[in-house]
Amino acid sequence: MSFSELKLFEKRASAAEEEIDFLKKELIEIKNILDTGKVPLKEETASKAELESVKKENEKLKMQIDILKRTLGERKSKHFALASSLCNTDNMVSITVTLYTLFEKAINEAYPDVTDPPIIIAPSNNSKFGDYQCNSALPLCKLLSSTNLEGKQRILPKDVAEKIVSKVSSSPLIEKLEVAAAGFINICLKHEFAQIVLKNILKNNKICAPPIIRKRKVIVDFSSPNVAKEMHVGHLRSTIIGDSICRLLEFLGHNVLRLNHIGDWGTQFGMLIAHLEDKFPNYSTESPPISDLQSFYKESKIRFDNDEEFKKRAYANVVKLQACEPKIIQAWKLICDVSKQEFQSIYDRLNVNLIERGESYYQKHMENLVKDLETKQFLEEDDGRKIMWGENKNGIPLTVIKRDGGFTYDTSDLAALKQRIMEEGAEWIIYVTDGGQATHFQTIISCAKRAKIVLSCHRVDHVGFGVVLGEDKKKFKTRSGDTVKLSDLLDEGLKRAEQKLKEKERDKVLTEREFNLAKESIAYGCIKYADLCHNRNHEYVFSFDKMLEDKGNTAVYLLYALTRIRSIARMANITRDQIKETVDVTPISLDHPKEWQLAKVILKFPDIVMKIAKDLCLHSLCEFCYEIACTFTEFYDNCYCVEKNQTGEIVKVNMGRILLTEATAMMLEKCLTLLGLNSVEKM
Ligand code: ARG
Repeated sequence: MSFSELKLFEKRASAAEEEIDFLKKELIEIKNILDTGKVPLKEETASKAELESVKKENEKLKMQIDILKRTLGERKSKHFALASSLCNTDNMVSITVTLYTLFEKAINEAYPDVTDPPIIIAPSNNSKFGDYQCNSALPLCKLLSSTNLEGKQRILPKDVAEKIVSKVSSSPLIEKLEVAAAGFINICLKHEFAQIVLKNILKNNKICAPPIIRKRKVIVDFSSPNVAKEMHVGHLRSTIIGDSICRLLEFLGHNVLRLNHIGDWGTQFGMLIAHLEDKFPNYSTESPPISDLQSFYKESKIRFDNDEEFKKRAYANVVKLQACEPKIIQAWKLICDVSKQEFQSIYDRLNVNLIERGESYYQKHMENLVKDLETKQFLEEDDGRKIMWGENKNGIPLTVIKRDGGFTYDTSDLAALKQRIMEEGAEWIIYVTDGGQATHFQTIISCAKRAKIVLSCHRVDHVGFGVVLGEDKKKFKTRSGDTVKLSDLLDEGLKRAEQKLKEKERDKVLTEREFNLAKESIAYGCIKYADLCHNRNHEYVFSFDKMLEDKGNTAVYLLYALTRIRSIARMANITRDQIKETVDVTPISLDHPKEWQLAKVILKFPDIVMKIAKDLCLHSLCEFCYEIACTFTEFYDNCYCVEKNQTGEIVKVNMGRILLTEATAMMLEKCLTLLGLNSVEKM
């Protein structure tokens, strides 16, 4: 098999994987139809007419299943055709998927009678056992023994493994296969294969994503603070995690719409506007000085709670607002703009792009949705409210209309989901909020399924995360017990980063511009990285001291590591152009075990990003960055890239290793970019 054939093959493998997922979903769907739709035939008691109608019903169901199966087949071959025509040599090859497909084929050939055999591929954690392993023989052996598919005599895992190995087709990926005593199959990869992949990275001067089969329209709903209320650390987490998810999906080639679903609609505006009318009666001609919206909010809330007349006006304003009365809309806009400016300054500092589309955007959609749900009889009366149950009628229902006739957070989310699917054509929707909202989103999704808004071809994820704690392990607050203002937090980060750099006397080495770039890169980088490197479902302790450490899995360590790796070629006076020229004539050096180890880590990249596209857990990418940096250090400690004499003159440059170094730097930089970190040349 040639290398381009391998590429093709790999694409098919990845198509197959997506296809398997898809098939499984469709099968569940078919089973559901059968389980719920099929009416049992009780021939003795049923009348002839009843029997006929039931039979007809079942015929119809069968036909539906046939159609489903046929479209499935068509779609599958379309995917495959697409996959092979897409062959673009820049894509990185997923080793796991490629090996999976190879071994799946071999195992199916070796044991055609076993349905759904276990296919287990994993990287070896000890190079004694090859680079990867196929661990299918043991479970397969158990399966064969229990069903006795192989006749009467005892079956040994080792024999199963041998039989599998004999069926594995030759591949440009595999150097050799060995069967270990217990039946493990050790897979040794071909160095030439790794050399081609690394060479491509250097030649293209970029890291290309593994191929995806279907470019999907994805909507990521993240950050989403509330107007006139504090944008707090929870929103910061959502901003950081959401941005990184977008970066990853964009890198994979999906069509991503980044939406900021800000809370800009609802009853609080009634009182805010009433207060504005009293305090700044000529707000329509003069912009009122309400930069401190939080106190403005507090003032109006006190009046709302204590003044009946005010409360009445506030409620009346809500009605007018929802009816889009011009004067009220103007007041509402004024208030929103103040908040939005504040939000934007945070996004600018963090280099996060978002399109603002708040709850207000969905007012008309909510009205239409409610009408539609009413006609379809999904809404139920409940003590003056109108509620909607999800598919299984358990848990809690959505409140679609409140007692006073107003809409709720539930209404706007259901309407937004419908708009995103029906009008935006989204196939995948991701919500990034704290874990506390998990039930809310489960119910939204369940109701959307019941109303046939969300179908089996849609993917909807709630990406939840844990709360942020202070170093005292209590909810993150300032010393005086207030919510921490995000701009203050970022300022503090800058201050701390500056201190850190000065401690290391970097201000003496770097120019002012370099120093400031390094300071910002460290400050924002460490805040983002500290958030992303933990499993997002866990709570995490916010500690500047910890995140600014320069050892261990931290942003500072990685940013330093990258500058160090980058400096190697610079010290040897080798330019990017030289590297590009050399790459065709000098093989990348992979004979030393530490060189090979480093290359293998880099080659894992497609598997890492594909896994994250599935579970949306970014800490795997952080762990991968750390693994690159640590493996590089081991390599560098053992393998000279540049040799100097006693006077410090360069006497020899090992170009094969410089190439490996460059590929490492590019990979680390790519991963840091996906995490939203800005790397710098010097720090
Ligand atoms: N504004 C909400 C909050 O601060 C988050 C909104 C999340 N997105 C959504 N579609 N509900 O908690």
